[in-house]
Amino acid sequence: MTDKIAYETHGPVAVLRLQNPPVNALSQQVRQGLSDGMDRAEADDAVQAVLIVGDGRAFIAGADIKEFGKPLTEPNLPDLCTRIESSPKLVVASMHGVSLGGGLEVALGCHYRVAQPTARVGLPEVHLGILPGAGGTQRLPRLTGAQKAVEAITTGRHIKAAEALELGIIDRIEEGDPLEVGLAYAQDLLSQGAPRRPVSALPNLEGIDWDATYDNVLRKGRGQISPATAVRAVQAASELPFEKGIKRERELFMELMNTDQRKGLIHAFFNERAVSNLPELKGVDPRPVQTIGVIGGGTMGAGIATAALLSGLNVVLIEMTDDAATGAHKRIAGNLAGALKRGKINQEKHDALLNVALEVSQNYDSLRDADLVIEAVYEDMDVKKEVFGKLDAACKPGCVLATNTSYLDVNEIAASTARPADVIGLHFFSPAHVMKLLEIVVADRTAPDVVATGFALGKMLGKVSVRAGVCDGFIGNRILAVYRTAADHMILDGASPYHIDKVLKDFGFAMGPFEVADLAGLDIGWATRKRKAPDRHPQERVPTYIDRLCEQGHFGQKTGEGYYVYEEGKRGGTPNPKIPDLIAAEQAELGITPRDFTDAEILRRYMCAMVNESAKVVEEGIAARPLDVDMTLLFGYGFPRYWGGPMKWADIQGLPSVLADIERYAAEDAWFWAPADLLKKLVAEGRTFDDLNKEAAQ
Ligand code: CAA
Repeated sequence: MTDKIAYETHGPVAVLRLQNPPVNALSQQVRQGLSDGMDRAEADDAVQAVLIVGDGRAFIAGADIKEFGKPLTEPNLPDLCTRIESSPKLVVASMHGVSLGGGLEVALGCHYRVAQPTARVGLPEVHLGILPGAGGTQRLPRLTGAQKAVEAITTGRHIKAAEALELGIIDRIEEGDPLEVGLAYAQDLLSQGAPRRPVSALPNLEGIDWDATYDNVLRKGRGQISPATAVRAVQAASELPFEKGIKRERELFMELMNTDQRKGLIHAFFNERAVSNLPELKGVDPRPVQTIGVIGGGTMGAGIATAALLSGLNVVLIEMTDDAATGAHKRIAGNLAGALKRGKINQEKHDALLNVALEVSQNYDSLRDADLVIEAVYEDMDVKKEVFGKLDAACKPGCVLATNTSYLDVNEIAASTARPADVIGLHFFSPAHVMKLLEIVVADRTAPDVVATGFALGKMLGKVSVRAGVCDGFIGNRILAVYRTAADHMILDGASPYHIDKVLKDFGFAMGPFEVADLAGLDIGWATRKRKAPDRHPQERVPTYIDRLCEQGHFGQKTGEGYYVYEEGKRGGTPNPKIPDLIAAEQAELGITPRDFTDAEILRRYMCAMVNESAKVVEEGIAARPLDVDMTLLFGYGFPRYWGGPMKWADIQGLPSVLADIERYAAEDAWFWAPADLLKKLVAEGRTFDDLNKEAAQ
């Protein structure tokens, strides 16, 4: 026995209690302990049944993800599940909290399953780039039928106990201490003389149209291969005897284990958690936050207010005029109605949020009790300073004063107040109640407990919070500006925006960069180009063809015309025939002979520009670690999760090849493609971006 499993007997029932906090992941020691425990129980003639139960907050959250990518160690999980199932004694699982992945597979290896009403089960492996590899694809469908199993496995969703009972995944729901509940159930089964009931012995399931299902899941996965591969594994459960099916499952599992997508998805899993784990926050208590103020009730302000309300905070929203206040109230009401419709809140909660927790006011004095105030007004330094002047006068001492600016200098804003240590940037992404990313912009004089408060707020709101330093665009928008420019350069040189959009969607982005530009509004880029014009480097290439469209009042989706033309009532747009002519005119003016671009070259240039700027952002300390850039792009910019982020993508490609391409491009445009020193250094030292992440974690 290992010390991860406690063995005890209660009358005729041997109990194997998992003790591997926080979530009883199935590490080698846990697997060994379970196997030893089964041996011991079987060797004891007084034992008639075995109960498997977890200590702490969960039954078992799955395989130990930290072991992925390392050499496999015995006993392996599929063998363990089979070993449990083939026991001559009756085996029962008592499940509480989550039973996920390998955790559910262990339970499916048991002969009977009882769960708490609050328990959740699921096979979420596809989100880690793999498939259930310990019999899950073979046993689950034998209980639920093929269609339901395919749905559960390809979505990886958590299934609540009541539904799990309905689907036949569990046999009983019982509230109480999981050990007591499990013992009572085991005793009950023994007294009824219930037989052993191995799921693998259940008959093969009915077939479905496997090829159509595979194609459908592949299409929905937008390039992610694990869900579609899982369909083939369930197909094996339908077409092969159990022993052969499980072999097929193992082959497919190992195939996926060796993919780059698995590496990217696991990088995303751990770093989504590591990103808010910063040494500077250790031992620093955040200031308490119960009431927040929001200045400005446009789309952004209303979104922030909605997110705060839904997280249980009180909100005081300030608008300037009656009309604006009414508009803000309407926007928030609309957002909350959406939450009600989707079942996130019930009617009573909805009414309380809208009528009690929210106050819309035109008077800054209403902010007197606010613990934190976020301004989301027009992006103009003078306007921001005026707002901060008013906040300085109205807010109580210790109130955190935050700006939602997406590029303005937070140091300058802070310096305009009498309390710069209380000032921070909290950069939300629109719509703020939906988008997961929050950039926490730490200015030179921001106090440590104000930074901690920003992260605590992010956690309350369910955001992925990333620490950023002050520069134009912080982490995300600064990098975006550069890879967008790389795309613009390709257009000047002959690529079409539609080709670029297609290549990037094939790579896994939900939308192409020019579709995004149309959605965000072309006027934004136009204003940025004008703003940056005075400081422009003489060697900078800035295409202006799209400004001609803006000059005619066409700003993308909101005006019905941009890179694409949008017809009322139709989803998506069609290429705007004016665009090629505008591009051709600029090319002629600049004396450029357009050339062809392959898909591969478009992707490589776009990604190399992204990686090079990301490296500069890390080198300058704007991002604390490469993983901060990865999470920013993943959660704020639609970067495909299965690549793990641009820096993980670069590691997977091999940094020497990325640097070589950047140097090759630099031969054409030395100013734009100047390689980042950090990239050169890592290549010289034979290291990766992920090595920097690991160093930072030590
Ligand atoms: N292996 C290793 N560590 C795990 C883990 C796992 N399967 N699941 C969670 N953890 C760790 C987290 O990294 C985190 O560690 P830190 O505190 O050091 O950051 C800690 O447990 C708590 O996790 P969360 O912060 O996520 O806590 P939560 O309460 O918000 O969520 C959870 C708990 C629902 C279990 C969530 O962590 C989760 O979804 N985990 C992944 C579950 C999963 O994908 N299981 C399948 C694994 S693959 C498998 O089992 C394949 C197979 O058949 C071989």
